[in-house]
Order: sequence, then structure tokens, then C-alpha cells
Amino acid sequence: MAATAQRYARFAEFEARGSSPVYEQWTAAISADPEVLELIDGLPEAKRQPNLVLAAARSRGAAAGPYAQFRSFLQEHWEDIRSVILRRSTQTNEPRRCAVLLPLFAEIARTEGRPLALIEVGASAGLCLYPDRYGYRYDDGDLLNDPGRPDLVLDCTTTGNPPLPRACPEIIHRTGVDLSPLDPADPEDLAWLDALIWPGMEDRRILLKAAAETAGQSPARIVKGDLNAEIAGLIEAAPAEAAVVVFHTAVLAYVPKADREIFREKVSSYVDIPGRPVHWISNEGSGALPGPVEPEPVAEPGLFVLHHNGRAVARTGAHGQSLHWL
Ligand SMILES: C[S@@+](CC[C@H](N)C(=O)[O-])C[C@H]1O[C@@H](n2cnc3c(N)ncnc32)[C@H](O)[C@@H]1O
Repeated sequence: MAATAQRYARFAEFEARGSSPVYEQWTAAISADPEVLELIDGLPEAKRQPNLVLAAARSRGAAAGPYAQFRSFLQEHWEDIRSVILRRSTQTNEPRRCAVLLPLFAEIARTEGRPLALIEVGASAGLCLYPDRYGYRYDDGDLLNDPGRPDLVLDCTTTGNPPLPRACPEIIHRTGVDLSPLDPADPEDLAWLDALIWPGMEDRRILLKAAAETAGQSPARIVKGDLNAEIAGLIEAAPAEAAVVVFHTAVLAYVPKADREIFREKVSSYVDIPGRPVHWISNEGSGALPGPVEPEPVAEPGLFVLHHNGRAVARTGAHGQSLHWL
């Protein structure tokens, strides 16, 4: 129980604080509530994550309000909530992360002189596979790639002068892999993605709905399976005329350490093969990508690290809201 209490206390302090007052209050209170901790400890270890437990409760109707009310709801509906926790997993799909990926996508297309084939590992519903369908506004500057509707515009602040593109690269192939792909056109899957967004983040909720609508019109093919089992086949199936970009964001923290190392080795073996350009972009929490990482950026709480072919190039806001070029 001590480990779970600590996990919820850390979540309150380092993740929810400053982002979601409701989640901060709930997780801080859970960390000191033996009865609720006992319920959570009855779950398999991998299912005790705050994000998953709270999203499951909200998907069953827990209202964003005082902890006492949430606690009663949780206890009263625990069997129902528990079945959602066991059936679902943390699959938050954040299209705004395209704002931190786009400068690398554009730079790769420019230097390779080819259109891109995007392969997303841990794609969830695939909402990061459509960077060309979103508009971008960096630092309140001019709108890039006007999508024709304001709910598809991604705002992102920057520091350190990232190489911001003037246009979106051409994308001729998009595909991915996920242990459990979600369908952006399925109302139940969409409701789950919505429940995974923390209370108080309404802008993310609006963006999710708009992005799912556009993805649902022509969903990318996302293979159901494990990243290590599928990655080679996906790379080999990409069109020869494209520069292949394998990317992942907010995935490796959910992958066992030994599998991350195998993944790193597998993807690295494709980078730099002459005549078949494969680029690898990793946007993950600090320390999630197994070493060696050059240069080793100093960890900053709440920020991810963006790597291109194993080289750290930036820190990024965890939801794609900021880009800090190194
Ligand atoms: C937090 S979500 C991130 C989704 C998306 N990349 C984004 O940034 O919006 C992590 C995703 O990784 C997937 N995942 C976790 N382990 C995986 C594995 N071993 N193989 C394939 N996908 C995996 C999960 O199913 C989930 O959809």
C-alpha cells in the first residue's frame, strides 16, 4: 500500500499540480486514504496507474468535484469501474504532439528531398499520424497550414530557436502499431479517449473531438500487436519513394525495460542504411529511452525529450504545448 500511496502522492505533486486542480486534489487525498488504497491495491500492479483509475471512474460518471463526492462514487461503483480498468489501458492520444514533431518531419522531407511515410509506434487512435491536417501557431506567430477550422489549430510556444517550417511536408503513407488500436470513428473508443483527458483541460477535449472527426474520415491502418513484433514489417511495407519516419510519443514508459532495449536496437539497425532512408523520432519522458543518449539532456520535471536518430534535439511539453530546442 505504501508504494501505491507514494505513486498517487507523486502524481499529485509532479504531474497534476499546475495542470488539473481536481486531479491534484483527488490523488493527494487518495494517497492518504487507506480504504481507497486497498481497492486500488486489489488491482494487478500494471493497472494501478492514477491516470487509468481516475479515467475509468470518470468514464462511468464520476463528476469533477470535491474528493468526498468522488470517493463515495468510487466505492459505490467499484465493480463497474474495476471492469473498465481491467479492459482498458492508458491510451491518451494527444494530436498537439504533432506541433513538436513537425519541425523534424519537415527537416527530414527537405534534406531527403522526398515525401514522407509515417509509421507510428504506440499510435492509439492514430491522431498524430495526420500532421498535415492541422494548423500550427508557434509563439502567436502566423498560422501555418490553415486547416479551415479553428479547433484544428495547434498552439505551441518555443524557446531556443527551433527550425520552424514554412509548410507541411507531403505525406504519402501513414500506418502504425498498437497493442490495442482505437477507432477514432467509434463513439465508445472516443468516449474513452475523452475520459483520459484530465478535468480542467477543455481545449484538449475540443481538439480531440475535431481530430477524431478528421481521422475518422480515412483512418490510417494501425496493426494490432507489439512494437517489436511488427516494426520490421511496417518499415518494409513503406513505399520505396518515401523517406520512412518511425516515431513514437509517450509510449516507452508503458513498455518493459528489456523490450525498450530490443526496440532501440531494432530501429537503430534501419537508420543509416544507404539508399533506404529511415529516420527515427522519439518523444518520450526523460529516461524512458534506454541509453546511450547523446547529448544527455538534464531531466526537467514534466518535460519530454525529443530525439532524432538517437540524438537529443529538444525538450517538449508533455502534451505538445511547448518546444525547447537544445
Ligand atoms: C499514452 S498512449 C500515446 C499515444 C500516442 N502516441 C500519442 O502520443 O498521442 C501509449 C500507447 O502505446 C501503446 N503501447 C504500449 N505498449 C505497447 C507495445 N508494447 N506495443 C505497441 N503499442 C504499445 C498503448 O496501447 C497506447 O495506445
